[in-house]
Amino acid sequence: MAASKLLVSDMASVVDHVPSNYVRPVSDRPNMSDVESSGDSIPLIDLHDLHGPNRSDIINQFAHACSSYGFFQIKNHGVPEETIKKMMNAAREFFRQSESERVKHYSADTKKTTRLSTSFNVSKEKVSNWRDFLRLHCYPIEDFINEWPSTPISFREVTAEYATSVRALVLTLLEAISESLGLAKDRVSNTIGKHGQHMAINYYPRCPQPELTYGLPGHKDANLITVLLQDEVSGLQVFKDGKWIAFNPVPNTFIVNLGDQMQVISNDKYKSVLHRAVVNTDKERISIPTFYCPSEDAVISPAQELINEEEDSPAIYRNFTYAEYFEKFWDTAFDTESCIDSFKASTA
Ligand code: OGA
Ligand code: NI
Repeated sequence: MAASKLLVSDMASVVDHVPSNYVRPVSDRPNMSDVESSGDSIPLIDLHDLHGPNRSDIINQFAHACSSYGFFQIKNHGVPEETIKKMMNAAREFFRQSESERVKHYSADTKKTTRLSTSFNVSKEKVSNWRDFLRLHCYPIEDFINEWPSTPISFREVTAEYATSVRALVLTLLEAISESLGLAKDRVSNTIGKHGQHMAINYYPRCPQPELTYGLPGHKDANLITVLLQDEVSGLQVFKDGKWIAFNPVPNTFIVNLGDQMQVISNDKYKSVLHRAVVNTDKERISIPTFYCPSEDAVISPAQELINEEEDSPAIYRNFTYAEYFEKFWDTAFDTESCIDSFKASTA
């Protein structure tokens, strides 16, 4: 029986309609005819010159992309093409395994550091999403690698290589973003405790009625910064100036988006960005976001240097631990776009 399947990937292939628990209310559907195509409108930052004499130019590009968009694409990012290819292949092979092999990793417990699940948070949400995902913690790698799936056979090695390479890229991005805020280059990195890195492998099966449901509904990422790798199938959309813009995948570029912690640390100079994933009838889609985040015990607050009570820029957010924030994030189950408002400083 299709309805008894844990994962949407094992249900999707045997249904010709979207089951009712995936159907969104009419007021909350993708409405593809309203979506704009990304074209040239999304900033593309070439990191090639970041460490040369033109660094200040590139830092200005970061300032512009982060303040007016909150998302951008990057090329010449230093993650080898081969590493990316192997990661995407390992992800695809993982989801091609038999149902019995995959469900060994299934858990609905949002606190587990390695787990396969479906939708977003099945224990809390009212409408399901057309997505399965494998979620892994991957920094420090040695704390988690033994929990990761051991099949396909290369999975651990390939994922460790990819995660290490993307982490080096993120540290470079954090320095550039810190400088673009007028802060010392290690400032943002020093604000997030011992650091954390999570990864998701999102698998969006083909969907018979993509106009009725989402792969992921509109949301903002809870973490600091997200570096997204996607295959050649479109699906990601970002909200900008009142419109949804579709990202058409460009080989060997990553999409970077700012998350809620960057908004807090920058005291609203930079905003985390609303985005969503839609599905389609023709092709399955895989995306692999790296969610770079504070360690759980890190106390997050707006950077002191960006606060000036006299000049009318008081701290917009109170102090909190990332553990507190992250728990709230899963609890909201995407009923709201973000839980950031409940971390605002009281204005009393
Ligand atoms: C996410 C996300 C977008 C995508 O996993 O948080 O926004 O294109 N994914 O899969
Ligand atoms: Ni997201």
